[in-house]
Amino acid sequence: MGEIFQLVYFSEAADDLSYTDIKEILEVSRTHNAKAEITGLLIYKDGHFLQLLEGQEEKVRTTLERIRHDDRNYKVKILIEGPAKQRLFPTWSMAFHDGDIASNPNPAVEKLFTAPKTMKPADILPLLQSFRDHTDEFH
Ligand SMILES: Cc1cc2nc3c(=O)[nH]c(=O)nc-3n(C[C@H](O)[C@H](O)[C@H](O)COP(=O)(O)O)c2cc1C
Repeated sequence: MGEIFQLVYFSEAADDLSYTDIKEILEVSRTHNAKAEITGLLIYKDGHFLQLLEGQEEKVRTTLERIRHDDRNYKVKILIEGPAKQRLFPTWSMAFHDGDIASNPNPAVEKLFTAPKTMKPADILPLLQSFRDHTDEFH
């Protein structure tokens, strides 16, 4: 088992990002994360990403470094990093919520994407946790 390390960041998507890009990101992420025992949630809305990565600290940090250097996103800003008692998404190598799909209304997305950089971990984590009730909307 070992201690779980949790990291949440917010970033801007590249201007020319397409849905094909997102599909590719998810495919590669899920393969890699499954091997690295990383789980989490990726949310996309209005040209921005917010992602939770959870797992062994070194593996999460290595993954974050690859994401930082990935030109499909930029201005990666860490919102939360630290130990956690347990994983929020233990069965998801990377869950995905698309906040641009109107049939997926979720007040948590609005709250998270309005001013994420001003939010405290204690505000962000319960919102992320609330997505566990919406796993049927994950892609
Ligand atoms: C917003 C975003 C989220 C990503 N999330 C992950 C992830 O959770 N796990 C992962 O392995 N790669 C993720 N990637 C992809 C990595 O940046 C990288 O392309 C991928 O890990 C393959 O790396 P490699 O070509 O060095 O094998 C993400 C990329 C972006 C733009």
